[in-house]
Amino acid sequence: MRTRTAFFCTDCGNEAARWAGQCAACGSWNTIVEQPAAARPSGRATRPAPVPAAAVRLGEVVGATAATRIGTGVDEFDFVLGGGVVPGSVILIGGEPGIGKSTLLLQVAARLDAAGHGSVYVSGEESPRQVRMRGDRLTEDVSCVQFLAATDLDAILETAESAGPAVLFIDSIQTIHTAEIDAPAGSISQVRECAARLQSFAKSSDTAVFLVGHVTKDGSVAGPRTLEHIVDTVLYFEGASGLDQRILRAVKNRFGGVDEIGIFHMTGAGLVPADDASAVFLAGRRPGVSGAAVAAAIEGSRPLLVEVQALCSRASYGAPQRVATGFDRQRLALLLAVLEKRAGIAFGNMDVFVNVAGGARLVEPAGDLAVAIALASSAADRPIAEQAVFAGEVGLGGEVRPVGLLDRRLAEAARLGFRIAFVPAAVRTPVEIALQHCEDLGTAIERALQ
Ligand code: TYD
Ligand code: MG
Repeated sequence: MRTRTAFFCTDCGNEAARWAGQCAACGSWNTIVEQPAAARPSGRATRPAPVPAAAVRLGEVVGATAATRIGTGVDEFDFVLGGGVVPGSVILIGGEPGIGKSTLLLQVAARLDAAGHGSVYVSGEESPRQVRMRGDRLTEDVSCVQFLAATDLDAILETAESAGPAVLFIDSIQTIHTAEIDAPAGSISQVRECAARLQSFAKSSDTAVFLVGHVTKDGSVAGPRTLEHIVDTVLYFEGASGLDQRILRAVKNRFGGVDEIGIFHMTGAGLVPADDASAVFLAGRRPGVSGAAVAAAIEGSRPLLVEVQALCSRASYGAPQRVATGFDRQRLALLLAVLEKRAGIAFGNMDVFVNVAGGARLVEPAGDLAVAIALASSAADRPIAEQAVFAGEVGLGGEVRPVGLLDRRLAEAARLGFRIAFVPAAVRTPVEIALQHCEDLGTAIERALQ
């Protein structure tokens, strides 16, 4: 029998009947591949008669209260999860190969064991020896962690059922396969089927399941995005190349807030939570250089200070470049247009680069003012006072608009030694920091550049 194939988007997992250059579901280009598809259930006759399922009153269900969550003992990790691991939930941890996913989960497994929560760590990528060697470098004691080197889902589930751990780790979902589907490990149908079966195992046994998913650049392996809708929680582990800081980010969480981040350092003894998370991205600042401004941002529920760097230089040929790292490119285009129209700064023949330092991201509009001022500072080649922070949204009319949680942003800035805050007009704060009220971008630029 010929295996049924279908066309899948390796980015979002959408299934289509025929090949196309662009995925109809997520809009990505060149991501459609032909792969074996899950077999269709054959014929009605073979289906067993349905058994009626019992409905329950919600009041009688024991909820996932704080008491039922399992604390892993890695505080930043628990914080991102919303206060610990919820039994019976499936948590996907995505990230590029080598970023530290296995290291983090091994540390979590060791801590869970130390706290009396049994776990089983399944690796389809590494041998017990390799994992032991990694374990020996960690501050945690991994000697009690139950380890299984396996790739066959049915064998893994059997082991998990008899061992009955509180937490099951699968490293990685792309190496696991089930014989029920005639497709190689890592293909979209295989990855999805395995995740779905692990999901039902989690729910029926109340075991928390962690799935590691590698983010891959080429489309040969299904990426974590194909699983985002199946799992309860999606975390991404990120880091800028060459830096030891790592950011764990919740992008979906059925049991907690999204956009929470945890910040770690990769050291010789594994991952260590950052002592002072909001100051991490300020390390390595160089005073007196034009084009750098500090934004008083909020990530999830925590204030975070990040340095925005802008560089404007004369374009040498062709269309001027617009490059943004850690900041939305369209938002950058908008700010450039506002600066041009409302503050009279011409960027038409300039290459413009914006970088949020340290691998951080500036997503909220409250970061606009810092980005706009950094751009103006670079264009004029005039630096900004070292002790200044910025918080404000920039409107199309060039007006500086109010932002939420201003007191918390400024309290954090004051704690870290900032003395002056550029904020929208008419806002007040009990925080001891000098305020520069800026009605519009022009005023802000005039007062901020030295
Ligand atoms: P790893 O956890 O294997 O990454 P992933 O599972 O995401 O592919 O991390 C591997 C990297 O981390 C590797 O480059 C070595 C580094 N590392 C340290 O710097 N310190 C340590 O204590 C450990 C265990 C790893
Ligand atoms: Mg790994």
